[in-house]
Amino acid sequence: MSDVRTETSTSLEQGAVDDVLALVRRATDADGVEAVSEAFRIALTSGRGGVSHTLAYAGPSPSADLLGYAALDPSGSAELVVDPPARRRGVGRALLRSVLDAGATGVWAHGDLPAARALAASEGLVPTRELHVMERPVREGDDVDPELPAGFSVRPFEPGRDEQAWLEVNRLAFASHPEQGSITLEDLTERMGQDWFDPAGFLLVEDTTATSDGGAHPLAAFHWTKREVRSAMGRAHAANSDEGAGRRGEVYVVGVHPAYQGRGLAGPLTGLGTAYLARQGVTTIELYVDGDNTRALATYRRAGFEDAAVHVVYGRPTAP
Ligand SMILES: CC(C)(COP(=O)(O)OP(=O)(O)OC[C@H]1O[C@@H](n2cnc3c(N)ncnc32)[C@H](O)[C@@H]1OP(=O)(O)O)[C@@H](O)C(=O)NCCC(=O)NCCS
Repeated sequence: MSDVRTETSTSLEQGAVDDVLALVRRATDADGVEAVSEAFRIALTSGRGGVSHTLAYAGPSPSADLLGYAALDPSGSAELVVDPPARRRGVGRALLRSVLDAGATGVWAHGDLPAARALAASEGLVPTRELHVMERPVREGDDVDPELPAGFSVRPFEPGRDEQAWLEVNRLAFASHPEQGSITLEDLTERMGQDWFDPAGFLLVEDTTATSDGGAHPLAAFHWTKREVRSAMGRAHAANSDEGAGRRGEVYVVGVHPAYQGRGLAGPLTGLGTAYLARQGVTTIELYVDGDNTRALATYRRAGFEDAAVHVVYGRPTAP
């Protein structure tokens, strides 16, 4: 299609935001997967985060229909979606080229749909990251805590006491996953202020055979759970609200201090969190894990989790 016109800006008028949200809803219905992630949707509605929005229109007239939408954040991460009736007319290619020209280094394909895969390949892009969404139903007996290896015990996170120790173990456990490993006290405090935050479901495993200078047991590992559900459009709300369609819980972050890795903690640690969620009445447990995190993938598969979706980031191939 030769008459696709794109317009990029960092803030959109309410009418344009509504048009984009309606388009995203149509695409979600048609594709069975949300094309725009929560973070981008928040940026769209709040206008914050330095995200640039590109809108594709059918032609030059100011009243032309919206055909597609792309977003690019300052880290180089982009997403794009084309209205289902406007597909296979070159809109996706125009939007993809627009975000790549503007500096996108990775374009998300939620669900890695065949059309996205074909479009990315036709522009010479390759998969650079895979994010697995895994889930499993809560089964009878899941509410019983598994036993930890000898010398370890579990207790809930205590706000005001455990922040620094947790940040340190998180940093070390996720040294090769900077997105998670670089979390600061400010980020942690922000999360602790969210509706869903529940210290009782933020489990800390301590080495009871040792004590630090202050007399505390060193923190060996943690399992932070989250209870939240998303509606079809991905609005997040508390799982125990009346709106909750089925009760979902999440294995939010699991980490083992490197000094304690390889000592059989991962399995029971996962089980402690899923047992906590089961006791809260959760019926399905989900989690997100990077495809290159083979040890975590193996742990979760052993715990009965299966892929519900795989999201792929496409980018330019790096020189060998
Ligand atoms: C992926 C998506 C953006 C493609 O949008 P589009 O406007 O239909 O794509 P285009 O018309 O520009 O297609 C460009 C090329 O992609 C490939 N392609 C696109 N859709 C395809 C399909 N259904 N089957 C096979 N190839 C396809 C083709 O190579 C096509 O070139 P051609 O038409 O000359 O053969 C659209 O399907 C969409 O919005 N999907 C949901 C969101 C998503 O997955 N986004 C991630 C994009 S990386």
